[in-house]
Amino acid sequence: MSDKVKILTVFGTRPEAIKMAPLVKEIEKNSDTLDSVVCVTAQHRQMLDQVLELFDIKPDFDLDIMKNNQNLWSLTSDVLLKTKEVIEKVQPDIVLVHGDTTTSMAAALSAFYAKVPIGHVEAGLRTFDKYYPFPEEINRVFVDSLSTYFFAPTDKSCQNLINSQLPSKHIYKTGNTVIDALLYTVNNHSEEIEGLKLKSDLKTVLLTSHRRENFGEPIKNICSAVLELVQNNKNIQVVYPVHPNPNVQKPVFELLDNKERIHLIKPLEYAAFCNLMKKSHIILTDSGGVQEEAPSLGKPVLVLRDTTERPEAVEYGTVKLVGTDKNKIITNVQLLLDDENEYKKMAEAVNPYGDGLASKRIVDILKQIKA
Ligand code: UD1
Ligand code: UDP
Repeated sequence: MSDKVKILTVFGTRPEAIKMAPLVKEIEKNSDTLDSVVCVTAQHRQMLDQVLELFDIKPDFDLDIMKNNQNLWSLTSDVLLKTKEVIEKVQPDIVLVHGDTTTSMAAALSAFYAKVPIGHVEAGLRTFDKYYPFPEEINRVFVDSLSTYFFAPTDKSCQNLINSQLPSKHIYKTGNTVIDALLYTVNNHSEEIEGLKLKSDLKTVLLTSHRRENFGEPIKNICSAVLELVQNNKNIQVVYPVHPNPNVQKPVFELLDNKERIHLIKPLEYAAFCNLMKKSHIILTDSGGVQEEAPSLGKPVLVLRDTTERPEAVEYGTVKLVGTDKNKIITNVQLLLDDENEYKKMAEAVNPYGDGLASKRIVDILKQIKA
């Protein structure tokens, strides 16, 4: 039997890939003591492949499960059944999953059924509302309840785990690997965005929105707010890399396509997106990852949700929850456009989520597993 710790890392969507990539690289660097096996479910296809290419990760297993307009039931059963085979073949010492996606939840359940210990990266995030975000809040609670090792990004996430009566022996505050990915990317890449013609004399408002609970009326409200803001402010331009989910594409293109100073573009490769965040004046988003990255870059973030599992940046004042009410979005963006002091208060660069060393800390812990 090998003395090396065999680590099976499973991920499937863009944000998991971005946040697991620096960790996979760090595990690979320690090949004298750690044996790295990577399995992608490909819950996302194109958006996952963009990240694999950027970080030069070649998965050992690719389950290739994505279907157009997929649903939670088939996704869950595909991940569960297909990861069973991988776990049986690899016989890992630990399975690492990330965050709160269906890939993470079903892969963790699969590992639990096989009685393999689970390490949860980005453990302990909570909104304490089971339908917001849906189904992510329950996914993360479930993954935590199945896990043995908890890699929590902040003091608050550690405290959430302790409050949930989870065994505290293996709760570690590591920082969030998203900051490792962000710092690596902004320091090593500066990709321009092909075909996007932004005017340098206009302020750029960057928008992303894809959450399930924003499907229907909320996403239409967001679009109407953006349209009105652009009409009322001739000095702004909006860039929206539109998520490929048909529930997002349809309303967004119906309401915002071919409008002056609104650029609807394909999801950007991560380095280009980081570059765009750096150039932006204000960011409007319902994304989890963007809420963590933008404060590091000193960009004010207005969150298009009523709750967040990432309260740290809200407390620092760089992130504000504005929800999806049209008038509330307009009022808050207008305030940042008109009031320099308000803008400055929010534009301070703070880094509550990490220092770029989270992967190293996690690897140091993984090395001890067989010790
Ligand atoms: C998923 C995660 C969500 C995460 C988000 C990140 C779940 C339940 N949801 O939501 O937590 O915040 O990813 O973006 O795990 N599609 C493509 N190409 C791609 C990716 C998606 O065409 O590369 C389309 C497909 O039609 C797919 C649909 O988007 O069926 C939805 O993908 P899915 O992963 O089910 O949901 P997301 O909304 O992306
Ligand atoms: N992102 C990207 N290209 C884009 C939009 C976002 O690379 O066009 C990155 C972003 O920087 C962040 C991650 O994708 O790291 C967030 O993914 P998403 O918003 O899809 O998921 P969430 O974080 O909400 O789960």
